[in-house]
Amino acid sequence: MKPINIGICGLGTVGSGTVALLQKNREEIQKRSGHPIAITHIGARRDNPDCDVSGIRVSRDIFEVVRDPNVDILVELLGGIDTAKDVVLEAISLGKHVVTANKALIAIHGQELFDAAEAKGVRVVYEGSVAGGIPIIKVLREGLAANRILWLAGIINGTGNYILTEMRQGGRTFADVLAEAQALGYAEADPAFDVEGTDAAHKLTILASIAFGIPLQFDKIYTEGISHITQADVSFAEELGYRIKHLAIARRSEEGIELRVHPTLVPKKRLLANVNGVLNAVLVEGDAVGPTLYYGPGAGSLATASAVVADIMDLVRADNRHSGVPHLGYADSGYGLDIMPIEAVSTSNYLRITALDKVGVMAQVALVMSRHKINIEAIIQKEPADGEECVPLILLTHQIREAEINNAIAELEAMPEVVGSITRIRMEQLDG
Ligand code: HSE
Repeated sequence: MKPINIGICGLGTVGSGTVALLQKNREEIQKRSGHPIAITHIGARRDNPDCDVSGIRVSRDIFEVVRDPNVDILVELLGGIDTAKDVVLEAISLGKHVVTANKALIAIHGQELFDAAEAKGVRVVYEGSVAGGIPIIKVLREGLAANRILWLAGIINGTGNYILTEMRQGGRTFADVLAEAQALGYAEADPAFDVEGTDAAHKLTILASIAFGIPLQFDKIYTEGISHITQADVSFAEELGYRIKHLAIARRSEEGIELRVHPTLVPKKRLLANVNGVLNAVLVEGDAVGPTLYYGPGAGSLATASAVVADIMDLVRADNRHSGVPHLGYADSGYGLDIMPIEAVSTSNYLRITALDKVGVMAQVALVMSRHKINIEAIIQKEPADGEECVPLILLTHQIREAEINNAIAELEAMPEVVGSITRIRMEQLDG
């Protein structure tokens, strides 16, 4: 039987894992996809000492792989956007199916790529782009296809989760843990993408589009990073029965769709609060199935290769090589719901206020909250540390609109007794 020939662009963490997995599980992969699969051509700017490419043609110019007439399926694992987009568009124009794990490319240019692919009768598949080895795209697009998705909440950046986990378990500083995450190769080339939430926002763009049948709208996601979270916040949250997680949340209501990435207090007893280290998890509530949870490695060489190779097999498997599943899961446009501005979203909140240790400060803070009709659920005040004249005041609020809590925070920060800015972290009960 003539093999299906694969060309791979990029030989970094995921590229080398893909080569290794296709070699390691060759027999199972062939039996399950019904066809031998051969890597015929690899494009990489430099060799990867961890990767055995003996017997495979290697080019330094990745476009030689795209244009190689022997390549049937092009696997783009370059990262970055511009060159990756050129590679994918050229492969499509040459009538080749494309597999990619590039979340930024799909979140920003996905629609253009899917339109080009549909015009040419080929497919662009991208399971490895979100949550690494967890097949969450297949879950939303196929497994839960009969459901109306009500909401989803995920830990979809392993680096950020590792930082928050280490801050809690090891009592280590933010900078120290980030340096280790970089050394271990979890972080993006620019770790600001992890820490500031951009990477999670790329992934949420893709998940929300499939879940709700809406266009890919990366620029409408409210994104807040974790760099302002301190050890004190992690400890106070723990004391109050919560953990801080960097969540990506998509929720549909009658008012519209909420899309947001931000640090979040989650009750300790929830499963998501117990997802630690570089692991990812996505909680999805469908109207028929109820809440479901998907958990596993969201990054890493073989784990992400697991998703990439499964995509290759999907393309090889169907005899007409068309799965019949639309690129974003919907055969026509979805619900016509708008993305809500963050000011219209309601959440409960954790506030950490640094105040002078004076009589009446607590009463004044309570007065501001009551003027803004913000219901306080819990309040704790700590002793001042030795030699300090300030005390931390921690407040938990009931649900309140963003616009209202922002006004209250501005008023509190203007009080002479309040020192510096107030830390605010949203809360989610996740009790679907
Ligand atoms: N930097 C990403 C993460 C890699 O930490 O999750 C996987 O997309």
